[in-house]
Amino acid sequence: MRRRERIFRKPLPKHVAIILDGNGRWAKRRGQPRTYGHRHGALNLRRIAFEAHDLGIEVLSVYAFSTENWKRPQEEIDFLMQLPHNLREDFKDRFKHDEIRVVFSGRRDRVGKKNKELMAELEEKTKDREGLIVNVCLDYGGRHEIIEAAKSLAMAVQEGTRKPQDIDEAAIEEELYTHPLPPVDLLIRTSGELRISNFLLWQSAYAEFYFTKVHWPAFSVRRFHKAILSYQKRDRKFGGLKRSDHQ
Ligand code: IPE
Ligand code: IPE
Ligand code: MG
Repeated sequence: MRRRERIFRKPLPKHVAIILDGNGRWAKRRGQPRTYGHRHGALNLRRIAFEAHDLGIEVLSVYAFSTENWKRPQEEIDFLMQLPHNLREDFKDRFKHDEIRVVFSGRRDRVGKKNKELMAELEEKTKDREGLIVNVCLDYGGRHEIIEAAKSLAMAVQEGTRKPQDIDEAAIEEELYTHPLPPVDLLIRTSGELRISNFLLWQSAYAEFYFTKVHWPAFSVRRFHKAILSYQKRDRKFGGLKRSDHQ
């Protein structure tokens, strides 16, 4: 595949994060209920995750349910909360033979006992795999994650195990759900919305953004390759200068 060969010529993003948006609109366009879009969205996650694994990407974070998505109708919430179960089924064959590891980021106190157990089970079963890490962000909110980190550091100060002056980036990072994953290199959002919607706020501080109008269930491997190729053309400076601009 020519596009793949082009991708391998330059460094890959280590951590790709995707705001998988547009399931509802994709379904509506087909005259189907929103849940039909969510089912196809979950199937597409399998397709893109396997490709990320085959390419050699280290981490794929996906935004599956935000701390704000509880505002949706109960029926839709119930459907979305089946994700850990669906994930276990959809990835079954690959989990057995492949090196894919699954971790979850987000609150665990509101997703139900069954989900909590299932999430722990998937994490435990795949913990020694050395291939792609799929970081599923479920009941995840960037602000909540930072609040929890602040609370935990404040508690350590109160207990005398930490000094306020020692709180630095590394100290905060250690408290995030995503620790010890690397920062986000490429952040993709499907379906045309140009916003971050509370996703990986800290971790995306220097991420390259890629927006596409394509709805998530229609975001193909070819389109995923296009996003990576776009990333590889970017000039990442992290506040510094390009090597060639140094005197
Ligand atoms: C993304 O699709 C999936 C979740 C947010 C869970 P949406 O459900 O947001 O689809 P649209 O944006 O309404 O089309
Ligand atoms: C972001 O999508 C959350 C997920 C993809 C899980 P939303 O559809 O909830 O975001 P807004 O409401 O358009 O910002
Ligand atoms: Mg949406």
